[in-house]
Amino acid sequence: MSKLYTDLAEIYEAMYSSFIDYKAEFEFYESILKRYDRKEILELGSGIGHLGDFFQKNGFEYSGIDLSEEMVKIAEKKYLECKFLKGDIRFFKLSKQVESIIMVGRTISYLLTNKDVLSTCKNVYNNLERKGIFSFDFIDAEEFIPSIQNGKEILHNASYGNEEYLRKSIWSIDLDKGMTFNWESHYFKKTKNGLKEIGTDNSVIRTFTREEIRIFLELNNFKIKEILPKESYAFPTYVIVAEKR
Ligand SMILES: C[S@@+](CC[C@H](N)C(=O)[O-])C[C@H]1O[C@@H](n2cnc3c(N)ncnc32)[C@H](O)[C@@H]1O
Repeated sequence: MSKLYTDLAEIYEAMYSSFIDYKAEFEFYESILKRYDRKEILELGSGIGHLGDFFQKNGFEYSGIDLSEEMVKIAEKKYLECKFLKGDIRFFKLSKQVESIIMVGRTISYLLTNKDVLSTCKNVYNNLERKGIFSFDFIDAEEFIPSIQNGKEILHNASYGNEEYLRKSIWSIDLDKGMTFNWESHYFKKTKNGLKEIGTDNSVIRTFTREEIRIFLELNNFKIKEILPKESYAFPTYVIVAEKR
C-alpha cells in the first residue's frame, strides 16, 4: 500500500484538504444519486472521510471502507457521526446490501491487476441491491499517458491551517503491466528558511481506457448509464454511473 496513506496519512490530510474541493465533489456525486433517487451510500476508499461528512450532514445514510488503518483513524476522529470500516475493497462483504456504492478520488488507480479490478466489481455487485448504482472515477489513459513528460517536475501548492505546503511530483511512464505510470513525490513544508522535506513516496498508478472499463462492468453484469468527463486538480478523469442488472 502506498506510503501516502500510511506513514504520510497526516500529510495527505493537510495537502489533499486543499487540493480537492470536497464540497464540489460532494455536490457532483449528490446530483448523480439524486437523479437515481438513492439515499444510502457506501464509499470505497473513503480516505480521511471528508465526503462522508458532507453526505451524512445532507441526509444520506453513509458508510466508508478503507484499507489504511491510519486513514480510517483520522476519519473516525474527525467525523464521529459517520461509520468508517477498515477493509479491503477487493474482498469486502457487508451484513446488508446497499442502494449505492461510490469509489472516487481515483481510488481505482490502486487496483493494479485485472484480477483486483474484477474482484472489486464482483464484490460491489454482491453488496448492492437489485438495480443498485455504482459510480466511480478513473484517470483517462488516452489523454493522460501520452501527455506525461518523463522526468519533468510537476508542482502542486497547498495550504492547511496556517501552514503552506508544496508537492513535487515526477511522473514516468511504465507500461510493462498495463496503462500505468510511476509517481515519485516529495512533500515539503514552507518555512522561514525555505523548503523543509517532510516525506517522499513512490507509487504505481493505473489509468484506464473507457473500453477497458466497459469490459470490466459488462463481465460483472453492470449496465453503464452515464460516462461523464471530469477534470480533477491533477488528472483528466471520467466518472461512470452504472446500474446492477
Ligand atoms: C487517492 S485516495 C482517495 C481517498 C478519498 N476517496 C478522497 O477522495 O480523498 C485512495 C484511497 O484508497 C485507499 N485504498 C487503496 N487501495 C485500497 C484497497 N484495496 N481497499 C480499500 N482501500 C484502498 C487508500 O488507503 C486511500 O485512502
